[in-house]
Amino acid sequence: MTRHFLTDLDLSPEELDRVLSLAEHVKAQPYKVKALAGPQTAAVIFDKTSTRTRFSFASGIAHLGGQPIIVNPGEAQLGHKESIADTARVLDRQVSLIIWRTYAQAGLEEMAQHSRVPVINALSDDYHPCQLLADLLTIREHKGRLAGLKLAYLGDAANNMANSYLLAGVNAGMDVRIAGPEGYLPQEHIITAGEDRAAETGGKVTVTTDPAKALAGADVVATDTWISMGQEDEKPQRMKLFGDYQVNAQSLEVAAEDAVVLHCLPAYRGMEITAEVLDGPRSVIWDEAENRLHAQKALMAWLLVESGLADEATVAAVKAGERR
Ligand code: CP
Repeated sequence: MTRHFLTDLDLSPEELDRVLSLAEHVKAQPYKVKALAGPQTAAVIFDKTSTRTRFSFASGIAHLGGQPIIVNPGEAQLGHKESIADTARVLDRQVSLIIWRTYAQAGLEEMAQHSRVPVINALSDDYHPCQLLADLLTIREHKGRLAGLKLAYLGDAANNMANSYLLAGVNAGMDVRIAGPEGYLPQEHIITAGEDRAAETGGKVTVTTDPAKALAGADVVATDTWISMGQEDEKPQRMKLFGDYQVNAQSLEVAAEDAVVLHCLPAYRGMEITAEVLDGPRSVIWDEAENRLHAQKALMAWLLVESGLADEATVAAVKAGERR
């Protein structure tokens, strides 16, 4: 059965641990796993702009021995001149992976339903699961573990990053606190899905309008832009709305003394996070950005193996790496 990665819960807790171990392995030995040798090709399709996702997938595919085919916003016929299902039926005969940054989660689900090769969500309106793989890898590197750590996310808590922090965090057994203003909190179905997974892993979900409650003793403090793609016209209202949720020196006083700070980037210094914090000693943001590469390489190789689409050498390399 072909495995896809469309939401943070598409990996079981045990699988998440294996992918993160493999990511540590490929980070230490960048050119050992050749899951795309041939070179095989991978489609990397963007309906929205990108820096990190584009470079990390293109570099990662090359490291795995493959060749990326990058499609920039507006270049494909996908979704307007040709259906998603027909696109999947064409692409899966040409490429070994389909990586897609798009708007609707339903589009990714349709692509996956009709594709015989793994489909990876490179950001949708609802989730950013590849970013969370990098974030968890970064936390594990700096804290030595994930389960039991307190993670506070502050800001626009109704966006894709908040959803992914909630789901990926509890999948790793973390105590996840999500704080944002009334009306900008995760939807009920996300909270329920997170609570269900937390019951399996020992994780915990708190959703609150009180930033201090989220921050109390937090080991990890995360935020994201207050103005996501397409919300540029709402900037004045959003600046006011999210002001109390800024990550700054004062908010870090409430967190644990050795708390680390995450931001998926691009960041707006002076808005969701101060320059002092982003560029300060608690920031692990540049490691986080680098880890997109390592986490996604592990994910791509792992999905190919689990889907029965990898050669013997790749299977052996992945099995060795995921057991670290
Ligand atoms: N964090 C992230 O996804 O960055 P890009 O939008 O630059 O890809």
